[in-house]
Amino acid sequence: MESTKPRLFSGMKPTGRLHFGNYFGALKQFVDLQDTHDSFIFIANLHALTGLPAKDKLMQDTHDLILDYLGAGLDPEKVTLFKQSDVLAHANLTWVFNNLVTVPYLMRAHAFKDAEAKKAEVNVGTFDYPVLMASDILLYNTDVVPVGKDQKQHVEYARDIAGKFNNQYGELFKLPKELILEEVEVIPGTDGQKMSKSYGNIIPLFGTDEEITKAVMGITTDSRGKDEEKNPDELVIYQIHKLFNGSEELKAQYTKGLGYGDAKKMLIKDIIDFVTPMRARRDYFAANPKLVQQILVEGAMKANDIAMKKIFDVYEAIGLTQ
Ligand code: TYM
Repeated sequence: MESTKPRLFSGMKPTGRLHFGNYFGALKQFVDLQDTHDSFIFIANLHALTGLPAKDKLMQDTHDLILDYLGAGLDPEKVTLFKQSDVLAHANLTWVFNNLVTVPYLMRAHAFKDAEAKKAEVNVGTFDYPVLMASDILLYNTDVVPVGKDQKQHVEYARDIAGKFNNQYGELFKLPKELILEEVEVIPGTDGQKMSKSYGNIIPLFGTDEEITKAVMGITTDSRGKDEEKNPDELVIYQIHKLFNGSEELKAQYTKGLGYGDAKKMLIKDIIDFVTPMRARRDYFAANPKLVQQILVEGAMKANDIAMKKIFDVYEAIGLTQ
């Protein structure tokens, strides 16, 4: 039976360990919304190819990501979990959409501009990334796409592409909306810049106690003493700490009376307490690989059901079926 709940679609790339930017910026929303939304959460392994990962690393990262999803609290009874590569229609729809977008339009994408600034020759996969992402979102009649702020433009591109297709061939695609929570749209890393693997400033979501301790000890602080008055909202450490403890009491302590050394000790404990139940869930699934496999097979079947219908409608609308 068709669900009457709004359709939610999102996912992450399997390109290394998740961090608390991924968690608070996106994954937590996936978990929080799984009861109220008809949710599809996938592993964007085709998107990961743009970085040409070694085969074994891609396989390991993919396996880790599904465990991370489950550990963080996604319930396979409520959410359809699948791998992008298990649904061939993502690539098929990308090819169709490639003909509706222009080169200058894709050249305006932030991610492309960033890649170009760093590297002389950007591969075609990186250039076409937003079109594949539009296909992901649009195949599933998506209403909302929970993401961090860095993905806003990609969802806008998906909306544009849906509009272009609908104008040209008839209304086949819903126009999706990004869901970005202002308080967590950019989670800072240990140096105060956006938390990101490429900046080396992450706190890993499923790190060991030692790794968490090391990352927290590296958070940038200033030289003010514990009894000097401070504005907590300007402190990197408080911006991170408040994610785990949003109480007024903690904020007051940061204003005056709490030294950075003690604050870091508290934060380490708060993070470890926070992840302990998640680690237990993750360990359970890690010990049951057959169950994980089955979750992905069932997810792929459900996703394919919807995606195949959509791609056939598209093929029909554009004259690829007779
Ligand atoms: P990815 O794998 O880079 O990141 C996954 C999610 O984490 C969010 N995020 C952050 N949010 C707040 N603060 C941060 N410091 C931070 N770092 C990361 C990202 O905004 C994202 O929501 N292109 C996507 C994957 C993708 C996708 C899709 C997402 C492919 N197709 C379709 C939604 C719908 C990406 O690379 O995310």
